[in-house]
Amino acid sequence: MSERVIPLIDQRLVSVPARIPQIGTTPIGRVGDQLGRPLRDLRISVTDRCNFRCSYCMPKDIFDKDYPYLPHSSLLTFEEITRVARQFVAHGVQKIRLTGGEPLLRKNLEILIEQLAALRTVEGQPLDITLTTNGSLLARKALALKAAGLQRVTVSLDGLDDTIFRAMNDVDFPVADVLDGIAAAQAAGLGPIKVNMVVKRGTNDHEILPMARHFKGTGIVLRFIEYMDVGATNGWRMDEVLPSAEVVQRIHRELPLVQLGASAPGETAERWGYADGSGEIGVISSVTQAFCSDCNRARLSTEGQLYLCLFASQGHDLRHLIRGDATDEQLASAIAAIWQGRGDRYSELRASLPPEAGAGTRRVEMSYIGG
Ligand code: GTP
Ligand code: 5AD
Ligand code: SF4
Ligand code: SF4
Repeated sequence: MSERVIPLIDQRLVSVPARIPQIGTTPIGRVGDQLGRPLRDLRISVTDRCNFRCSYCMPKDIFDKDYPYLPHSSLLTFEEITRVARQFVAHGVQKIRLTGGEPLLRKNLEILIEQLAALRTVEGQPLDITLTTNGSLLARKALALKAAGLQRVTVSLDGLDDTIFRAMNDVDFPVADVLDGIAAAQAAGLGPIKVNMVVKRGTNDHEILPMARHFKGTGIVLRFIEYMDVGATNGWRMDEVLPSAEVVQRIHRELPLVQLGASAPGETAERWGYADGSGEIGVISSVTQAFCSDCNRARLSTEGQLYLCLFASQGHDLRHLIRGDATDEQLASAIAAIWQGRGDRYSELRASLPPEAGAGTRRVEMSYIGG
């Protein structure tokens, strides 16, 4: 008998119904959470599928052909997503990021982008609309995405060495095709383009300098991400984390850097500029230097669960309100009440948590709510 252990409890079953507050919550206007953090950034996952199998995100042995991906009927439609996004925007959201899985696998995504691009912030400004992609379909889709109203893209790329890249995506996908995708995005004007590299010590840390050299002077912002204990399936170990301070040191030795100030409150990356003025890099240090204190990010899963933290173990089910008879005002009040109850700051607490609360415990997968 073959034995197949799925270590994660299916997070999609763990949710609390979102409730419409009876009194006291204004349906529109800015909201703060328990730690006074505003709601600024909404990340919407549009599919839980991906054509890559990066071991830190969707390890092949778990995300195989038998994995229970969401059925089509569970997915929020574009109209449902836009309706709920409008209520988030009424509470102060200024940036929307589309994620996955791989968002470009969702059919006709341009239509959703067109709908979201028509929304306006509380101040009447267009939203910052962006998308995280593995780049595999970007060469084909960049122009249509731009035409639909997408402003910029962030491409995940873990190395330039073809052998290492193929091994990390674990589907033998060539690096040249991702580089073509980045070039197409640049030509289409989807900038400023960011490239995100997850650094795993011993796996791709020797790609740090080649990546820095490659993107220096191109206008593309390369960001190095500390490998995180997100989800419950990637077998995370602290000794595979390369602290950002070391990334900065390694680059600085060859390509001198100066620290830059933050460009927006609550941002994930610490910014460093090349001393010769030829661009900047960023480091995202969720493990060694948590940035929860002004985290303004909310995450909406493909099926309409609202997650208040990347490391949350439960979502708030908005879909039953969206598909029920809740009015827009009621939906907006429910969102405000959920945000006002938020106290999450997992990365800050990580160091003081008991070991059993670490990697391997019940937690939502990144492929389900997006980065
Ligand atoms: P920009 O608006 O382009 O600056 O994007 P961003 O940095 O806000 O978002 P992006 O999705 O590019 O984030 C990069 C990576 O940082 C993600 O892939 C995650 O690995 C990590 N990250 C993003 N948001 C959070 C967060 O709220 N908490 C933690 N711990 N990590 C995060
Ligand atoms: N640690 C850090 N970042 C991760 N991502 C996915 N899994 C992890 C992890 N374990 C992020 C990467 C990738 C994006 C889609 O999600 O930034 O580029
Ligand atoms: Fe896919 Fe991105 Fe996850 Fe890799 S990190 S498996 S490309 S969603
Ligand atoms: Fe925000 Fe949670 Fe990440 Fe902290 S760990 S920055 S609260 S998403």
